[in-house]
Amino acid sequence: MSDGMVIAVDGPAGTGKSSVSRGLARALGARYLDTGAMYRIVTLAVLRSGIDPSDSEAVAAAVDDVDLAVGYDPDEDRSFLAGEDVSAEIRGDAVTQAVSAVSAVPAVRARLVDLQRRLSDGSGSVVVEGRDIGTVVLPEADVKIFLTASPEVRARRRNTQNVANGLADDYASVLADVRRRDHLDSTRAVSPLRAADDALVVDTSDMTETDVVAHLQDLVHQRAGVRG
Ligand code: DC
Repeated sequence: MSDGMVIAVDGPAGTGKSSVSRGLARALGARYLDTGAMYRIVTLAVLRSGIDPSDSEAVAAAVDDVDLAVGYDPDEDRSFLAGEDVSAEIRGDAVTQAVSAVSAVPAVRARLVDLQRRLSDGSGSVVVEGRDIGTVVLPEADVKIFLTASPEVRARRRNTQNVANGLADDYASVLADVRRRDHLDSTRAVSPLRAADDALVVDTSDMTETDVVAHLQDLVHQRAGVRG
């Protein structure tokens, strides 16, 4: 385990999880690990190889050969596939549509969980963001946070973000996608999305990002005080 604090931040898409995890890492001077980016890099590799993302056997056979790397800096999105910076491409529609299927494949999860454990180790504190960090990847984390928000609030946030990024203004289809992904992520056999029994559940529906970061910082400091 790391010699600093290990902080797990889990929850579904649209809870502000990514911005909040980065903000928390920045405030704490901690490293930041985006595990969703790793599933996205593998998904991009699958798509580029012409493998059908729903063909779990073919996906499982391909995962060991994927040469992926991610950065630790909360201020920089750095995702690499075979040395190529794919930070923008992994956020695109094609990857977003396919990533749930790829991340449901047990061999994919086994490889990435192992990598995530190794990357979380090391000196100083680390904020690890994902879906199963507190439950599966780092059950011994010092602080486990599970962010929630209503599907409507999450869809509204994502739609606003899409519009800001020049994409279509389509709340109804974003909401449908939020529900579809929730369902896939929470019902899959391996590592379904759920809060760890000892996670601190924070509903961000009525909170600003700044409020959430400040609240999480308080929780981490309280925990650090207890740990001594
Ligand atoms: O957080 P994100 O949207 O970038 O995550 C992309 C996908 O990866 C999402 O469908 C859930 C999956 N994921 C996962 O299964 N486990 C994680 N620890 C992180 C992400």
